[in-house]
Amino acid sequence: MPIPKAELHLHIEGTLEPELAFELAARNGVTLPYPDTAALREAYAFDDLQSFLDLYYGLMAVLRTERDFEDLADAYLARAAAQGVRHAEIFFDPQAHLARGVAMGTVVEGLWRALGRSEATHGVSTRLILCFLRDESADSAARTLAAAGPYLDRITGVGLDSAEVGHPPAKFRAVYEAAAALGLRRVAHAGEEGPPEYVTEALDVLGVERVDHGLRSVEDPALVARLVRERIPLTLCPLSNVRLRTVDTLADHPLPAMLEAGLMCTVNSDDPAYFGGYAGDNFDAVRSVLGLTEESVRELARNSFVAAFLDDDEERRAR
Ligand code: ADE
Ligand code: ZN
Repeated sequence: MPIPKAELHLHIEGTLEPELAFELAARNGVTLPYPDTAALREAYAFDDLQSFLDLYYGLMAVLRTERDFEDLADAYLARAAAQGVRHAEIFFDPQAHLARGVAMGTVVEGLWRALGRSEATHGVSTRLILCFLRDESADSAARTLAAAGPYLDRITGVGLDSAEVGHPPAKFRAVYEAAAALGLRRVAHAGEEGPPEYVTEALDVLGVERVDHGLRSVEDPALVARLVRERIPLTLCPLSNVRLRTVDTLADHPLPAMLEAGLMCTVNSDDPAYFGGYAGDNFDAVRSVLGLTEESVRELARNSFVAAFLDDDEERRAR
């Protein structure tokens, strides 16, 4: 029985397995630039974040209808449940869909069809987090938040993702202020490829409660001390870091040192269809390759529930 855990860093579009991509392509009359699933999988050899993002955004062409988003989320929740995920906080990238003529309502209603019944069907509670694409303009982010207005009862928070370097968090100060005023929780990717200064800026300028990745924080001892002191959760994604070459090999991952330093680390899958594993696979990998003790694995699982956007009763039930 896999250890119960919450998944806090998961892009729903990054759960699109090649088999489902081809199924949706056929359903929607979309031609993919790959002859079959094996050829598509072979393309999953990334040099860095951008080379992954190019493929990730391209493959989204198959997602067109509410049913597509429902099927995508349902498939993820089934796999996550089988790996011990009891609660999932799910990112989505509306700008990538709006740009293709797919409406906000199609995305949110479609996802919600699966999320709304997930506790009953999969035993997984869920939250939805709308991410802004940081390589798009601040105005575009503001328009996206406005487009989400009718769906805010289904959206728990906002996040920031896509190409990091050259797009510091401060660019999104205004839209994060607007999100906070709407009562939305705030997270942001920072310190994945970008420098530790982006982590500090995400905390100070955007007011984030959790940092997604935060890996490069380890380069700045004063920042590490602050993250420990303020108990800021980091949503690490070890297999993603290997595939996007932010670490050389899994054996080089700083997770053990980060735990040792007292950081509130969690382990997550990021884009599991692309990076070789779901949440449980990430737990298994760090346990075996990094030699984490059972106590450390329990700490990671405990942290995931503490860092989740659950109230106390929900947290108790999910664990
Ligand atoms: N979008 C999907 N996965 C991402 C990642 N690992 N970093 C930034 N943006 C992303
Ligand atoms: Zn991510």
